[in-house]
Amino acid sequence: MSVLDNAVYIPYGRQTIDEEDIQAVAEVLRSDYLTTGTKSIEFEQEVCKYIGAKYAVAISNGTAALHAACSVAGIGAGDEVITTPLTFAASANCVFYCGGRPVFADVDKRTYNIDPEDIERKITDRTKAILPVHLSGQPCDMDAIYEIAEKHHLLVIEDGAHALGAKYKGSCIGKDSYMATFSFHPVKPITTGEGGMIVTNEEGLYQKLRLFRSHCITRDSSMMTRNEGSWFYQQLDLGYNYRITDIQCALGISQMKKLNQFLRRRRELAKQYDKAFADNSDIIVPYQQPDTESGYHLYMIQAPHHDRRKIFEGLRNAGIGVNVHYIPVYYHPYYQRNGYHNICCSNAEEIYSHLISLPLYPGLTDQEQKFVIETLEHLLETA
Ligand SMILES: Cc1ncc(COP(=O)(O)O)c(C=O)c1O
Repeated sequence: MSVLDNAVYIPYGRQTIDEEDIQAVAEVLRSDYLTTGTKSIEFEQEVCKYIGAKYAVAISNGTAALHAACSVAGIGAGDEVITTPLTFAASANCVFYCGGRPVFADVDKRTYNIDPEDIERKITDRTKAILPVHLSGQPCDMDAIYEIAEKHHLLVIEDGAHALGAKYKGSCIGKDSYMATFSFHPVKPITTGEGGMIVTNEEGLYQKLRLFRSHCITRDSSMMTRNEGSWFYQQLDLGYNYRITDIQCALGISQMKKLNQFLRRRRELAKQYDKAFADNSDIIVPYQQPDTESGYHLYMIQAPHHDRRKIFEGLRNAGIGVNVHYIPVYYHPYYQRNGYHNICCSNAEEIYSHLISLPLYPGLTDQEQKFVIETLEHLLETA
């Protein structure tokens, strides 16, 4: 593979699926239950065991997981939830779904994660929760965030869409959480096609999440206002069809067996990028907070002395599917129209203007990575 070889296409992220995964899915397709069978419970148990949390609820996608978490946390009209602008829009949209308002706190210049000091500045008497996002799989400063939450009596809902298997002070993200959510979109640490999970340590939340996922319908007579017979069920509140299929959960169970292997390879590739760029003053590599182990969902670099558009397009033209994570959420027209036009999180804006996510996924070969590195270095010298 050479710098000028245009026949290649290397995406920024990609699922890793093997025969065992395919067999697991095929088995469900031959079974009686394509959905509402036993696979979601098995998948939830696997994730709980891995993370060390007490309860998990599998759900149709990571956005639904955030919606469910905000809803059962009681976010409602007039409530403010503080989150980061440097994230996928879902991290903030979930607050709107519940009638609340996301409030953006700026990010830390080094980690790109929400800055606890700015969280504190953004607290008002309407603030109900903090919603930190473990961007790229790098854990947020959770001690500082929980300290602020305790001081101001706020809830903490962690968006761990990027962070399955990432560790903060030796524990998996989600282990000690009030609630943490995950996504299983194909580029994520494991995949179920589309899919998500909420983990919690509170039984009451677990029960509410299970109801929310399926129209808030129950067949448990102890929860019903009356019972007319064994056919009977009641809708206790407004819920959704956010169920995940057994087909997806079978894939998830099979993928969980390989999570450690996936994480090892992601971390190895990240180290190789770090090493390759160590002496290149044009490139800022992802900073790693001591006492954390990133899951390296993304490898986000900055090239602040160069025209990002030129570098980005040069890489794309070479067949390298780079991406940018993320456009600050409040830049989007929906947010601009809804009162966020005067917001400025200067660190997030500055970082965004230089960001490029390089390819990183377990199936990326050393040879492909070398091609990415050489192409980027060549562009930085010439563009
Ligand atoms: C930080 C973050 N939160 C939430 C989501 C939503 O997850 P999903 O695509 O599974 O709905 C994503 C998806 O990319 C994400 O990156």
